[in-house]
Amino acid sequence: MHNNLTLQSSTINKQDRRELNQHKSCVLWFTGLSGSGKSALANEVEKLLYTKGIRTYILDGDNIRLGLNKNLSFSAEDRKENIRRIGEVSKLFVDAGILVLTAFISPYESDRQMARNLFSVGEFIEIYVNCSLEVCEKRDPKGLYKKARNGEIKDFTGISAPYETPSSPELSIDTEKYTLKETAESIIAYLIQQSVLK
Ligand code: PPS
Repeated sequence: MHNNLTLQSSTINKQDRRELNQHKSCVLWFTGLSGSGKSALANEVEKLLYTKGIRTYILDGDNIRLGLNKNLSFSAEDRKENIRRIGEVSKLFVDAGILVLTAFISPYESDRQMARNLFSVGEFIEIYVNCSLEVCEKRDPKGLYKKARNGEIKDFTGISAPYETPSSPELSIDTEKYTLKETAESIIAYLIQQSVLK
């Protein structure tokens, strides 16, 4: 099926684009339950990066599922395809010299590993947005847990579909204990410590 394809390379490469931007490019892969705070945290981190002059882009579950991935359901198979596509899109952004932040539940360890495998060492930073199911359900910002409990949504993560806790994320962020500002700043501190940022 892929026999007649040849990978084309461009004269201007990832390193050239990074030098033009004057910063490294990588993916911050936020994973966690619905309502754990992935989107809020990615947004807060992006604001801090913006003030530092870093070129960024957020890929967010709801937004991507309204467009690029509108044909995908929440079956295990479609979630895998969702994450495969997002991994590939993130890779393009990283190649373009952008620091990309992804906010997807990405509940399966094997799917997150598949995404990680697309990148070089240090380019994929997995951030577990750690919040108990109990608290996520209490927050229920979109009323989805209530619907899932009533049987109006099937395959709902944490209720009728699994969430596999990351076994070795680069960062684990507790959004029950710490404020948005504190958690976002701790991610920036990590990026400086890892020399992703100056
Ligand atoms: S996944 O598992 O990574 O493919 O999911 P993702 O693309 O991040 O989409 C999650 C958002 O979709 C809404 N939603 C559901 N989530 C989980 N399970 C079911 N069945 C479901 N149906 C709709 C929900 O708004 C999720 O957004 P977040 O921001 O996580 O709450």
